Amino acid sequence: MYRTHTCGELRDNHIGTETTLAGWVKKVRAFGSMTFVDLRDRYGVTQLFFNEELTQKLNEHSLGREFVIQVKGEVIERENKNPNMPTGHIEIKVASFEILNASETPPFTIEDETDGGDELRMKYRYLDLRRDINKKKLTLRYEVSRALRNFMHEQDFLEIETPFLIKSTPEGARDFVVPSRMHEGQFYALPQSPQLFKQLLMVGGYDKYYQMVKCFRDEDLRADRQPEFTQLDCEMSFVNQNDVLTLFEKLFKHILKETKNIDYPEALPQMTFAEAMERYGNDKPDIRFGMELNTLPFGIGKDDCGFNVFDKSELVVAINAAGCASYTRKELDALTDWVKRPQIGMTGLIYIKCNEDGSYKSSVDKFFDQEKLKAMAEQCNAKAGDLVLILCGKETLTRKAISELRLFMGDKLGMRNPEEFKALWVVDFPLFEHDEENDHWVARHHPFTSPKPEHTAWLGEKDKYGEILANAYDLVLNGNEIGGGSIRIHKKDLQQQMFKALGMDEEEANEKFGFLLQAFEYGTPPHGGMAWGFDRLCALLGGSESIRDFIAFPKNNAGRDVMLNAPAAIDDKQKAELGLK
Ligand code: AMO
Repeated sequence: MYRTHTCGELRDNHIGTETTLAGWVKKVRAFGSMTFVDLRDRYGVTQLFFNEELTQKLNEHSLGREFVIQVKGEVIERENKNPNMPTGHIEIKVASFEILNASETPPFTIEDETDGGDELRMKYRYLDLRRDINKKKLTLRYEVSRALRNFMHEQDFLEIETPFLIKSTPEGARDFVVPSRMHEGQFYALPQSPQLFKQLLMVGGYDKYYQMVKCFRDEDLRADRQPEFTQLDCEMSFVNQNDVLTLFEKLFKHILKETKNIDYPEALPQMTFAEAMERYGNDKPDIRFGMELNTLPFGIGKDDCGFNVFDKSELVVAINAAGCASYTRKELDALTDWVKRPQIGMTGLIYIKCNEDGSYKSSVDKFFDQEKLKAMAEQCNAKAGDLVLILCGKETLTRKAISELRLFMGDKLGMRNPEEFKALWVVDFPLFEHDEENDHWVARHHPFTSPKPEHTAWLGEKDKYGEILANAYDLVLNGNEIGGGSIRIHKKDLQQQMFKALGMDEEEANEKFGFLLQAFEYGTPPHGGMAWGFDRLCALLGGSESIRDFIAFPKNNAGRDVMLNAPAAIDDKQKAELGLK
């Protein structure tokens, strides 16, 4: 037996027993004739004690960090107990040891607080994975997956795998493609999601399907996006929107309970897309804190006050940073610089300080008298001691900017506690989005999402496209979209109308989605479902918005695997086989 116990297991009640442990050397502390070694494995750390004779032997092997060793010895009570370590009451009095493998000095310290930068740790990801902090993340990931699978099993869902070598499934990103050797010049696409297969499973009669599945999307990467990521994908037949939301709300609460021991008795609020945009400036509001948007009425800048910036703006919108009237010039300048960064794109920031004495101080008090400043402040529910921050300009840009500023202020004021979980449903999304660049309409969710029945007739009227609402919904947790779904189109003629609205003629629709249209001719049940970003969910439950650390072998921000050095060129022979030039 390589080991009788793990390095996280031994306690007071083991004192006096013989044990064999195996693991990695975390730390070596030599005190002249004796040596203490911290031995690490997945389960914890145990202190080993080597006497003079064994210390000499150890020195012959130049034992260093990350050597893999096996020790046999007795569990004894520790003289200097360490209350911060689960095994801190005991140590092993080593009787014999064996070096199972030596190690080079690792390129960074394998501690929670490491000295290794991002890229270095990704290059040596297998060493990074030895850090406790990462073990906790991957363990949490497993626990979430287990809770989720148990739940789906209890609810009578079947987990069914769908293929990876397919034809494009559009989810709004670019496809990763795979050249075919047997069919020269032809390509498979990797699925952006199993969307079409799950719908076909409904046609096949598997009324409750789910899958933990890899999806592939060639899109710009961010902290919450990877080119390959995992979805909890699900579809159900004979359901309406409420049925889907009810089930997933239960699942969400089940996972919180199982993995974080958090009870979440309240029903998740439902907010329409329009309301979310109005109150928070985006469709994934962080409702852990208020600081809602206030749209100021136009005309405030009129009356020849000389301030026409408001008048020229499509949107003048403000948030109230409660208790921030004491911000210094320097702090306000820093905020102004923040909104002027290219990522935010504003030309400036206007503020109104509500002084304790009832007066107002503003960056635009040259143009507005106290009465007008008061009117604006009151519209934002600002009280003495508060600071009103105003942005103005083009509608879309300004709304996005104020929503970012709100999150930034929320962070600054400590209102976004990662250990607090607040979720909501955003519903009634628009069916289409206008692509300004190419001047055409694209599906906001995907082309298989059904319009609200009362809006279906508008599919024939282009000037109504912007108003058509969809049976689509997102699950939002702490300001992050963790899942999205919809009730689908299940009738052939409506699906054809949808393709047409998206600018596809009959030929193109048949070429791309003929198999789906045909399936719809053979008794397709009404159906709907959703998919969750599993990596995102795990990251949020782990208190982070970055998904990378919750994936065992992630890609870097440029989409590279720096450990494998992929993507990489292929040799000419392989190219020739694939018919690639
Ligand atoms: P959607 O495109 O909204 O819907 O994706 C579902 C969820 O997947 C997560 N996600 C990602 N996570 C990490 N990296 C990415 N690049 C990435 N892209 C998306 C998000 C998102 O909410 N087929 C539909 C679902 C359906 O209609 O049932 C779909 O894929 O958390």
